Amino acid sequence: MSGKERWASRMGLVLAMAGNAVGLGNFLRFPAQAAKNGGGAFLIPYFVALVVLGLPLMWIEWTMGRYGGRFGHHSAPGVFDSMGKRWFWKYIGVFGLWCNLLIASYYLYIESWTMAYAGYSLWGGFAPAATDPKFVANFFSSMTGQVDNQLFAFSSWGMVLFAVCISFNVWILSKGLAKGIEIVSKIGMPLLIVFAMFLAIRGILLAPGVDPGVIEHPAVGLNFVWQPKYDSLWDPSVWLAAAGQIFFTLSIGMGSIHCYASYLREKDDITLTGAGAAWTNEFCEVILGGTILLPIAVAYLGLTAVTAMTAGGSGFGLGFMVFPQLFQHWGPGLANAAGFMWFGLLFFAAITSSLAMGQPIMAFLQTEFGFTRRGSAITFGAMLLPLSLPVALTHENAFFGDFDFWAGTFALVVFAFLETLCFGWVFGINNSWREMMTGAELKVPTIFRFVIKYVTPTLLFLILIGFIFKPKQEWGTVAKSLFTGQSIGTWEWAGDGMIGKLQHADLPDPATLGPIEAEFQKNLRTARTVDRLMMIGAFAGFSYLVHRSWKRRRAEGKVAS
Ligand code: TRP
Ligand code: TRP
Repeated sequence: MSGKERWASRMGLVLAMAGNAVGLGNFLRFPAQAAKNGGGAFLIPYFVALVVLGLPLMWIEWTMGRYGGRFGHHSAPGVFDSMGKRWFWKYIGVFGLWCNLLIASYYLYIESWTMAYAGYSLWGGFAPAATDPKFVANFFSSMTGQVDNQLFAFSSWGMVLFAVCISFNVWILSKGLAKGIEIVSKIGMPLLIVFAMFLAIRGILLAPGVDPGVIEHPAVGLNFVWQPKYDSLWDPSVWLAAAGQIFFTLSIGMGSIHCYASYLREKDDITLTGAGAAWTNEFCEVILGGTILLPIAVAYLGLTAVTAMTAGGSGFGLGFMVFPQLFQHWGPGLANAAGFMWFGLLFFAAITSSLAMGQPIMAFLQTEFGFTRRGSAITFGAMLLPLSLPVALTHENAFFGDFDFWAGTFALVVFAFLETLCFGWVFGINNSWREMMTGAELKVPTIFRFVIKYVTPTLLFLILIGFIFKPKQEWGTVAKSLFTGQSIGTWEWAGDGMIGKLQHADLPDPATLGPIEAEFQKNLRTARTVDRLMMIGAFAGFSYLVHRSWKRRRAEGKVAS
């Protein structure tokens, strides 16, 4: 039963792994991050991060996963336990369950929106947006129930959608690896690529003066992303953002790749297949993702407006509020089809990723506790509820944003750093390299031995430090003041660093606000305290389960430690 799950075909594995990586991040987050960080200035750090962090970590995680699978483990605690030997590694592996559950709690929420939008587009529901500029924004707020300056949000049909989306995921997961995830990937990935190609091509053919509403050539948007600019190369925050995007988009530092790779056979190739999955993700990100959101938006709105709308680094505004309206310029038939394709591709991107978040938890319950597929799928759904409900029922700056920061951004770096230590230093680079090269069809240049042992962990350590102690002042200013002794004024923490986040530096000070806003800000802080306690509770809960499971194994004489 559970221990014998395998990928049915190599093609299926590559598509599932690519589906795992290709997600909302490719089509919404990447273009927005690129725009926020200076367009062409972003791409150089991005590709450097791909080579020195992305690829090495990809190979590390595939290797660790396949190795753990040999001992019957399919989730991070067991995988880390088989490589790390010492007792505490299995608890570090808990990150690989915890991140997935927390990310899934909000990722599935966005996924449910894409479902609604795809259906509504196809049905022609967005037609009034052609004349009513508020129509799409109203649709969005009626679906999410979000109201400014109000902690609680409620939308009955938004909740129904969310429930449908979670149930659908649970149902697919319960079908197992080959009959569930693999089939969805085989259908979803090709469709996603076809839809994306259609939109990318239609987008770049838009011409001012020919197509109604177009004010700018879409090439202006393309140029903005592709023209290399060197000025921000000295800005560490651009490097941090690029590294963060690489992590998020490749799904590394989450335990999800370990899980998928653990279903490989001992001698199955890792290096070529892993690089192939990463390549597919990059194609979907820089080529397809880079050619849809920005060029189309720029064609209709101009570069200045678009950069203002992506200033927060999120593509949600453009993707969910603006696009359905822009498509109306394409005439009723094509507008419906284009909307369906855009949200359909987001849906396929999202579901193949959300399944990848569920599988590690399924695998943990199956292999360590003997659950059936069905039982573990339902348990995953039940574990999601207490986390998903508050996400859907509160302001996005409470649970949603906070989970995204701690579990979806910060924890990935911590986990990835620890895993490079486990791989290159504890298991040892000689053993690790030999393991990675077993069955290898791509001979990875030996320079990567050095990169994996020294460069990747060092960079991750620096990124981690940068994340913890991120100052509000530009890094450049801070560095200069260190050398020149010039004062930088009062030291403040950035809102998106660890210390700043703990001090709520990203929220306005209630003392400076009117009564309603001040009340809301206080409520937000309370909600964040609650969500952080829940995150700690979830980590403790998983750790306890790991403890129980190993205790039982010891009693059965299955493990030595
Ligand atoms: N890589 C996915 C994207 O680009 C998102 C993602 C985040 C993910 N965490 C994950 C996918 C964990 C699978 C497992 O959108
Ligand atoms: N947290 C950011 C946001 O609110 C980043 C982000 C963009 C994101 N796209 C995403 C997070 C998709 C998860 C999934 O918007």
